Amino acid sequence: MLEPARRSPRRNDARGKGLDFADEARFLKSWFDKPLVTGAVSPSGKALARMMARYVDPDVPGLVLEIGPGTGPVTEALIERGVAPERLVLIEFNPEFVPLLQRRFPGVTVVRGDAYAVRDTLAGRLDQPLTATVSSLPLLTKPVRQRARLLNDCFEMSRPGAPFIQFTYGLVPPIPREAIAPVTVAGSPRVWLNLPPARVWIYRRQA
Ligand SMILES: C[S@@+](CC[C@H](N)C(=O)[O-])C[C@H]1O[C@@H](n2cnc3c(N)ncnc32)[C@H](O)[C@@H]1O
Repeated sequence: MLEPARRSPRRNDARGKGLDFADEARFLKSWFDKPLVTGAVSPSGKALARMMARYVDPDVPGLVLEIGPGTGPVTEALIERGVAPERLVLIEFNPEFVPLLQRRFPGVTVVRGDAYAVRDTLAGRLDQPLTATVSSLPLLTKPVRQRARLLNDCFEMSRPGAPFIQFTYGLVPPIPREAIAPVTVAGSPRVWLNLPPARVWIYRRQA
């Protein structure tokens, strides 16, 4: 069940993005407070959230890690896709978003912490491997070496073949191929309905 803020007036603008005014305001405040951590001025639209969720196979058992969930549009898309809330583990840095996510998504595990220190942040919390990692972190604000370490740490906690799914507004993969071999990288179609348009990149460690 979604909390009342989720049911506040929505409008579908010409971009096809369902806007929730309360979430827009929360997000904008977060961006003013910490622009480099928030990384965007508004939450992702439904089309982008669904594109992210599309690369998670709900039939593969295991936990799904979401990093940087914000106000939860991707979480919502993952649940709509068929991932049971009990299989979702979220790491969010912004302390104001954490109680919101807990109220909004009963059954989901929400951890307040730093996703770049994912091993420490999740220490003792995982009882099975990850089947996917879904990231909305503003990776480009961090050095390449730190992005590559995050990817590697997530793969170490995952079952073989598990995807690391990341969106970006940029034109190229946010973790460069040459920094992460042997990992494959595939791009989704561009999501023109999102503002700004975005693309989803899917990383997988080669066997
Ligand atoms: C671009 S927003 C995306 C939010 C949401 N997933 C969406 O698509 O609208 C990035 C989110 O990552 C969070 N974040 C940034 N750095 C983080 C970190 N080191 N650990 C965990 N969350 C972080 C921010 O607080 C923000 O909620």
